[in-house]
Amino acid sequence: MDGQRILCRLDDVPDGGAIAVPVDSATGGFELIVLRAGRRVFAYHNECPHAGRALDYVPGRFLVKDGRITCAAHGATFAVDTGACVGGPCRNGLLAVPVSVLADDAVAVVGVP
Ligand code: FES
Repeated sequence: MDGQRILCRLDDVPDGGAIAVPVDSATGGFELIVLRAGRRVFAYHNECPHAGRALDYVPGRFLVKDGRITCAAHGATFAVDTGACVGGPCRNGLLAVPVSVLADDAVAVVGVP
């Protein structure tokens, strides 16, 4: 469907957790963190605004607890639902990508040209 890019299925993301999803692009691609809270999903670039490191402690494994995700590098902490910096050495939030859960439970980036 135009304007959408499927990332994964809702059941691929543990409730209260996160997965990494690689995304191809004309510039070589990037990785998104897809987080889930029930039927709500959120996606952010897997790049910490503190020092540019990926947030996972091993590839694809993230520290998520009580609605917050913590960068494994130096402990910056972000709100799952907004990406805002809520603790640690970050000054800015995570770069968000708009995603939706479709009727068939696919998780898609919306607004893709
Ligand atoms: S790079 Fe994430 S806290 Fe430093």
